[in-house]
Amino acid sequence: MIAIGCDHGGFNLKKEIIDFLEENNYEYKDFGTYSDEACDYPVYAGKVAQAVQKGECEKGIIICGTGIGVSMTANKYKGIRAALCGDCFSARACREHNDANILTMGERVIGPGLAREITKIFLETPFSNVDRHIRRVNMMKALDE
Ligand code: RB5
Repeated sequence: MIAIGCDHGGFNLKKEIIDFLEENNYEYKDFGTYSDEACDYPVYAGKVAQAVQKGECEKGIIICGTGIGVSMTANKYKGIRAALCGDCFSARACREHNDANILTMGERVIGPGLAREITKIFLETPFSNVDRHIRRVNMMKALDE
């Protein structure tokens, strides 16, 4: 189950990514926002982060204008490793190296085709599970305590 959310700045790209999820038979929960009316991105980033934190959803995707505000917010939640990605290399590396559990993107930064590709890579790439990456992810997890 994938948690997805956005603010008004990410509303159109969220629709595009939901289309991608449906076309590829991913189950998802849409945590809003549900219109392009101005709203506060920490609200929606928080809803997605909490769904992932509680284990209700395995991964999350959050979109705002830049991807920055939602990334900063999500990373305040214990257990969340949110990665802002604007390229395919980062989307792969954040899974393989950092075991990122939330992807964030900026609708005002990247186009829909690239956002779909980034999403595909993020969802399909497993954590590499090699010792050095496990150790480094564990060092990040220790900061939660
Ligand atoms: C909204 O104007 C914009 O600030 C927001 O979508 C996001 O880019 C914040 O980081």
